[in-house]
Amino acid sequence: MLKLSLSIIKSILKIRKPDTNKGTYGHALLIVGCKGKMGAAVVSARACLRSGVGLLTLSVPSKERTILQISIPEAMTIDRKNKEIDYPFFSAIGIGSGLGITKKTQDVLIQLLEEYEQPLVIDADALNIISLNKNLLNKIPKGTILTPHTKEFDRLFGDHISKEERIKSAVKKAKEMNCIIVLKGHKTVITNGTESFQNSTGNSGLAKGGSGDALTGMITAFLASKYTPFESAKLGVYLHGLAADYTLENQSMESMLITDVIENIGYSFK
Ligand code: APR
Ligand code: MG
Repeated sequence: MLKLSLSIIKSILKIRKPDTNKGTYGHALLIVGCKGKMGAAVVSARACLRSGVGLLTLSVPSKERTILQISIPEAMTIDRKNKEIDYPFFSAIGIGSGLGITKKTQDVLIQLLEEYEQPLVIDADALNIISLNKNLLNKIPKGTILTPHTKEFDRLFGDHISKEERIKSAVKKAKEMNCIIVLKGHKTVITNGTESFQNSTGNSGLAKGGSGDALTGMITAFLASKYTPFESAKLGVYLHGLAADYTLENQSMESMLITDVIENIGYSFK
């Protein structure tokens, strides 16, 4: 397995050119949050906005839209239950952070998988919904990035007796499904089924609710900005971990909040 190093990241990261506009960097849609879990939507959205995206729209329950309009003036919102949402219009779509698994939410994911043919970013409850309806696995667009932690991975693909077995299975599934799998945890593994990388950044200050939601936002931003899915996953994982490492300059692993980490995404780009 290759180590995901700074030199690899430098070779992927494109310098932002002067003669560009918001269209150059894409319009991302995040389908995230539900009553009681709007923090996940805020975290995911802020991390996405800190990662270079041109425009961001958030698809959330209509009653929760005000929370986002007040806390994130940079983002637009749409009512999640609107069946007329033009999904193919968006440059990249991330779904799952704090989403919940109600019937209505499941229908949103099913509709999305029917209408969107570009790579998606699928995390958290969206993965859990797929675990409950395994036939949805066949409907995932090729190039999609799945970001399960250990338990989400096992819910999707069955129990594994060791970390090594789980990594082997991730490689096999990524190849079969033509997808990117980001197997999260300490030393996250990113695989496209042919090549695999182990991350070299991050610390256990990230072992807290919300860290994964920030990663989803970051990867979705890179995908919207026209990086390939594999590049987007590598950039997201590495820079997310690096931002957490910079956060140790004025926080400890205990005190670190994911909002502190998001404020340091800028340092990791630099
Ligand atoms: N060292 C380095 N990185 C770590 C460590 C560690 N010890 N622990 C966690 N991380 C990183 C992971 O690599 C990953 O990027 O933090 C992130 C954690 O992501 P998740 O496991 O998805 O955690 P969380 O943010 O709590 O998820 C939020 O989604 O998965 C659901 O049930 C979960 O509702 C919760 C929500
Ligand atoms: Mg998570």
